[in-house]
Amino acid sequence: MLSRAQVIIPVITEHNAMLLQADKDGDLKTIYFGRKLADQAEYNKVAGVYHSSGDYTGVLNSAYTPSGSRNLAEPAISVTHADGNRSLDLKYVSHQVDKLSANVSQLRILLRDPVYAFEVTLYYKLYYKEDVVEQWSVIAHHEKGKVVLDKYASANLYLKADSYWLTQYHGDWAREMQPEETRLTHGIKTLDSKLGTRANLFEPSMFMVALNRPAGEDEGSVLYGSLEWSGNFKIDLEVDPLDNLRVIAGINNFASPYVLTPGEDFTTPEFLYTFSDKGKGDASRKLHTWARNYKIPNGKGSRYTLLNNWEATYFDFNESKLGGLIRDTRKLGVDLFLLDDGWFGNKYPRNGDHAGLGDWQENKEKLPNGLVSLVKEAQTEGVKFGIWVEPEMVNPKSDLYAKHPGWVIKQPKRPEYYFRNQLVLDLANPAVQNFVYGIIDSLFIKNPGLAYIKWDCNAVIYNAHSNYLDKKQSQFYVDYVKGLYKVLERIRSKYPTVPMMLCSGGGGRVDYGAMKYFTEYWPSDNTDPLERIFIQWEYSYFFPAIASANHVTDWGKQPLKFRVDVAMMGRLGFDIVIGKLNPSDLLFCQNSVKTYNSLKPIVWQGDQYRLADPGKSSIASVMYVDSTKASAVVFNYLVNYRYGAESKPILLKGLDPQKQYRVTETNLYPGTKSALDVQTVYSGDFLMTVGFDPIVNANRRSVVLELKELPGK
Ligand code: GLA
Repeated sequence: MLSRAQVIIPVITEHNAMLLQADKDGDLKTIYFGRKLADQAEYNKVAGVYHSSGDYTGVLNSAYTPSGSRNLAEPAISVTHADGNRSLDLKYVSHQVDKLSANVSQLRILLRDPVYAFEVTLYYKLYYKEDVVEQWSVIAHHEKGKVVLDKYASANLYLKADSYWLTQYHGDWAREMQPEETRLTHGIKTLDSKLGTRANLFEPSMFMVALNRPAGEDEGSVLYGSLEWSGNFKIDLEVDPLDNLRVIAGINNFASPYVLTPGEDFTTPEFLYTFSDKGKGDASRKLHTWARNYKIPNGKGSRYTLLNNWEATYFDFNESKLGGLIRDTRKLGVDLFLLDDGWFGNKYPRNGDHAGLGDWQENKEKLPNGLVSLVKEAQTEGVKFGIWVEPEMVNPKSDLYAKHPGWVIKQPKRPEYYFRNQLVLDLANPAVQNFVYGIIDSLFIKNPGLAYIKWDCNAVIYNAHSNYLDKKQSQFYVDYVKGLYKVLERIRSKYPTVPMMLCSGGGGRVDYGAMKYFTEYWPSDNTDPLERIFIQWEYSYFFPAIASANHVTDWGKQPLKFRVDVAMMGRLGFDIVIGKLNPSDLLFCQNSVKTYNSLKPIVWQGDQYRLADPGKSSIASVMYVDSTKASAVVFNYLVNYRYGAESKPILLKGLDPQKQYRVTETNLYPGTKSALDVQTVYSGDFLMTVGFDPIVNANRRSVVLELKELPGK
C-alpha cells in the first residue's frame, strides 16, 4: 500500500504536466507546473528537488488553499461552519480518473476536513491534444446546520519562475480589450469585476502570464487563463515570499457569502487554462481548436453572413423600409437580414433607448403585419431572417415594469439608478427566468422561419437587490448568473442549432461561460476598422475567428475595401445603407461576399498566425492556414501613417516548407490592379524564411493575399 507521502497525481496533457502530491500529512500540493518530462517515471523524483524551509512555506503551494488553519496566504476557500467556527483544513482522501473520450479525461480529487463534515472535490477536465484544462470544484458538507462559503474559488495554481509577466486587459464601451503588460511584483495583483451583468466591460477575466520574460508569438513560456463565468470574477495573482506565483481564480466573493444547506452541492464555474513553452501563438491556436471542438456551439460548422439595420436606420424604420433592406440583403448576396432594436413596444413604443424594453410585442405602427410577414418576405427573397432582443432588461417606461415591479433589480428604499435608461430583471427569480425563456420561445413558435438571434445586454447592475431572494441577498450575484445559464440551457435544449450572437453593448460579456451557448460574439460597437484591427487582434488570443462577428459600417475614415477586409477576419456582416452605395462600391461589396465565401473555411477553421503586430509596427498582418497547409489567406493593413510607412517582406508562418505556393492578391476594388507579380511561385520554406512583401502603402492600405499550393509540385 502506498503511504500518503507517495501519492503523486500527474495532471498530464500532450505537452504539459502539473504534478500534485499528497504529502505525509495529507496536504495536497502542486509540486510542478510546466512542460511535460520525457520520462514519466521521473515524476516521483520531483518532490525531492524542493526543500521547503520555515513553518509557513509548506502551505503556499497548496493545490486548493483552505483558510483559518495553517495557511496565512490568500485562500482559495474560506467558510463559516454551522457552529460559527471559521477554520478549514482539507486533506487528501482519494482520486479517480475517468476517460470521457479518446481525447478527454476527467480527474477528481476528494479532499475532506478531518474535523468538520466538510469536503471539496477538485475537478480537472483534460483535453489532451489541445493542452487545455478546465478546473473547478464542488463543495459540500453534512454539518448540523448551514455553512457559509465566504470564498469559493474554482482553481488554485502554483507556478515557479524567475519572473512573471502579466498581460491583462481593460476597456470600456467602444474600446474593449486594451492590453497592458507588467512584471508582477511581490504581493497580490487582482483582476476582478463587480458589475454583475456586462461583467467584462472594464476588465475581462482573460489574462496571460509569461514566465521568466515576456513571451513572443513563437517563443516563451506562457499560461493563458480565463474564468468561464458571465458575472463577477476575481483572479488573484500572488507572488509569494518564495518568489513563486499563486493563481487563485473564481467567482468574486465580493458581497457574496453563499449559504450551503447540509447535503447541498456548490459547483464553481470552470477556470480554463492552457500553457505553452512555444509562445503566445501556439497557446492561442490550442485554445481556438479546443473552443471549436468542445465549447462553442457549431464551432466546426458555418455561420450566416448578414445585413444588419442598426446603423442604417437606428430606431427609425417601418415595414416598407425593412422590405427594402430585405431586398438589399439578397442584392448584396449575404445569407440573412438581421432586424435590430426598435421593433417592439406599443403603449411605450421603442423609438429610442428610453422606453419599451420588456414589452416584446411588435410595434403595430412600425410593423402592422407583424414579424410573421417580414419573415415571409425574407423567405420570398431567399434570405434568412434574424432578430435582436435584450431579454434581461427593462425600461421603467414599459408595461412590464408597471406589471411586475418586483421583477426588477433595485434597492427598495433607494432611488433607482439607470444605465442606458434601463434596469436589469432579476434572473435569480424562477418566474423571471420563465419570462425570459418565454420571450425567445414564443418568437420561434410564432415565427418558425426565424433563423438567428442577437442577444444584447446593455446595463450593469446598480443597487444589487433581489426582491425574490428576500433574506438571502448575498447569493444574488451568483444566482443571477446561474439563472441566466438556466434560461440559456433551456433555449439550447429546444433550439440547439440556431445561431445566436452574444452582444453586450459591444464586448461587455465575452467569456467562455456564455460562449457555451452562443455561436458568435460582438467584439465591440466600435467598428472603425483601424480600431477593430487592434480589438480583434487581442480577442484572437483567446477566441477563434469563427466566433467574431465583424460588421462593415460607416465608422472610421478608411476606404470601403479596408473596412470589408477587416470584417472578413471573422464572421462577415454589413451594417451600411446598401441603397446609398455607388455602383462600383456595390459591385465591390457583392464581389467581396463571393470572395469571402470562398475564403471563409480557411478563416473559420484554419490555424491563425499573427504575423505583424499593429501595436509594434506600421503594418498589421494576420494569416490563416488550412489544416492541410494547401491554402492560406493573409490580411495586411497599414495602421500607422507616420513617416510614410512602407511595407517590407513579412515572414509567413504555418506553411509546409516543401510545398510550392502561388501567392495572389484577392478582394481587389473594381478597376484596380494588383501591384504584385502573380507569376512567381514560392516554396513554403522561402515564404517562411525570406518572407513576402504584400506592398502595403498609403495607396494600398489593405491587401489580402491568397496562397494556393501548386498541385503536383
Ligand atoms: C447595443 C449593441 C448595438 C445595438 C444597440 C441597439 O449598443 O451593441 O449593436 O444592437 O444596442 O440598441
